[in-house]
Amino acid sequence: MNHEANKAYDEEDHIELEHSDFDRLVQKGLSRRGFLQGSAAAMGLFLAATPLAKAVAAATESTLLDFKQIPASTADTFAVPEGYIAEPLISWGDPILPGAPAFDESGLQDAAAQAGQFGDNTDGMSFFPLGDDHALIAVNNEYTNYEYLFAHQGKQALTADEVKKAQAAHGASIFEIKRNAKGQWQVQPGAGLNRRITAYTPMELTGPAAGHALMQTSADNSGKMVLGTFNNCANGQTPWGTYLTCEENFNGYFGSSDANFSQDKHQKRYGLKNESKYQWFTRDERFDLAKNPNEPHRFGWIVEIDPMDPTSTPKKRTALGRFKHENAAVTVDDNGHVVVYLGDDERGEHLYKFVSKNTYNPNDKAANHDLLEEGTLYVARFSAEDGALKGQGEWLELTHGKNGLTKENGFADQAEVMIFAREAATQVGATTMDRPEWVAVHPNGKSVCCTLTNNKNRGKEGQPVGGPNPREKNNYGQIVRWWPRGGDHTATGFDWDLFLVAGNPTIGEGLYKGSSNVNADNMFNSPDGLGFDADGRLWIQTDGNYSNEGEFAGMGNNQMLCADPATGEIRRFATGPIACEITGLTFAPDQRTLFVGVQHPGEKLAPSHFPAGGNSKPRSTIMVVRRQDGGIIGA
Ligand code: FEO
Ligand code: CA
Ligand code: CA
Repeated sequence: MNHEANKAYDEEDHIELEHSDFDRLVQKGLSRRGFLQGSAAAMGLFLAATPLAKAVAAATESTLLDFKQIPASTADTFAVPEGYIAEPLISWGDPILPGAPAFDESGLQDAAAQAGQFGDNTDGMSFFPLGDDHALIAVNNEYTNYEYLFAHQGKQALTADEVKKAQAAHGASIFEIKRNAKGQWQVQPGAGLNRRITAYTPMELTGPAAGHALMQTSADNSGKMVLGTFNNCANGQTPWGTYLTCEENFNGYFGSSDANFSQDKHQKRYGLKNESKYQWFTRDERFDLAKNPNEPHRFGWIVEIDPMDPTSTPKKRTALGRFKHENAAVTVDDNGHVVVYLGDDERGEHLYKFVSKNTYNPNDKAANHDLLEEGTLYVARFSAEDGALKGQGEWLELTHGKNGLTKENGFADQAEVMIFAREAATQVGATTMDRPEWVAVHPNGKSVCCTLTNNKNRGKEGQPVGGPNPREKNNYGQIVRWWPRGGDHTATGFDWDLFLVAGNPTIGEGLYKGSSNVNADNMFNSPDGLGFDADGRLWIQTDGNYSNEGEFAGMGNNQMLCADPATGEIRRFATGPIACEITGLTFAPDQRTLFVGVQHPGEKLAPSHFPAGGNSKPRSTIMVVRRQDGGIIGA
């Protein structure tokens, strides 16, 4: 996020045209061609396959994108366009802390070694400048691949030490990087700000749920201190210099030693079961629901970390609700309130936003540190005419005593509204979505996008087809875009459309072909990672089906694309190795370096040896991308 850029950049103005009155636009002196361009982008689907669409498409070549798109790939490489260089920065197991050993292929290194090394499955990340050629990267380590973590490939019951090692592969990694004379960014092992955060790092619970009876456990009767974070998916970065890490599929780490375990309604909604493929509960009572039923209430939150102070205690911000958090897209509205958009990545779950009670003060860093402690959480309800792919929406407040969030309806207080935010969202009538993953706010602050990655259950009970979720058995995904009413992120109304509908135009029918900005040369499935750069290019990363067969034929491995929000044009920018997903992106402020995460290459023992090649183990890796001529990425 770059707040300076917000002021300078106003290029997306014409995309607002579709939401304005044409006569007023003419009065403003805008050309009819400009109007058609904006409309074509906003209404791409409606114009698909009409002669007008073709005429408009020809007139809407991107001014933002100026690289040659690359073909789909099934190779075991990370490919970028002509004129670009991509090099590995760090891979799972590389040393970070002082004294940490080098990576060892055997799978026999212990928990202590892993706790000093880069965690597994790199995901959301942020770049914090420390100088022109010196910076800090904070990055999530979402989960770990037992097939590579252990010599036995996860085929045996874990020992207590092995559970500790798995816990140490989770969390987040913070490390310094420096740029050398050749222009390459390199990790500084053992540097002063380097830190590993794992499933055992002490953290503080803050906000409305902190200290509540549902947060208290035998090890912590205050309900305010918790050990660790895990399944940290994507991220956020605040203008006051903190890193947000988002707890996603926390439920999967809990199990029950009680043979008669049966889910209560809350456990059912959050997917807590008696079995866990990670096996932690078999060796660590904290994860045994029979012994610690409140422990899972202490996960599923947004965690705020001050990366500049390795001794600081991370804070779980319960005012932002408990669900399977994907990322946290932070923006400061013109009125000074901090707004954080939040997706809950599960089929039929919801899209949220938090509005801070207090306002941001750019001149007083310390005064901003607790802005995420108090505020109002909202959840989205979308409406549309039958079959329309655009419409209006409303943010519904999740505050105890309002909108039916009462004791009679099962919510005793605000803490329970936050702890069971999913159930509160149902109570107020939120729209069930096709798996909301990342949200990104355009740098001009006028529009917001969210990837709805896919949803095979769309069309089943409780998940009606329509609005921003227009396809039954949606295996491809789409990106919904909205404009806060009056350009005010704290407003409760918005207008929306679909920026793109992924599909396969070579074999699909109707909406399964995808929107008019998807074609045989750029097609993909399951948009997931998402971010705008400071110029307003929209970067899209995929976590989809990489079989390259059937309805996914021609799409190849997971990839990264770049879109121009004004014209709708999409070009493929990068392709990942075998059986990976591409997730996590951050730019150096000069936009001349892009960091991209390659997660789980070779998952489930697929034949990848990325990045080292030969017969090496595949390892999750951050790639650094730059241009040979040192120019701006994507331009
Ligand atoms: Fe961790 Fe929803 O991706
Ligand atoms: Ca994701
Ligand atoms: Ca995903």
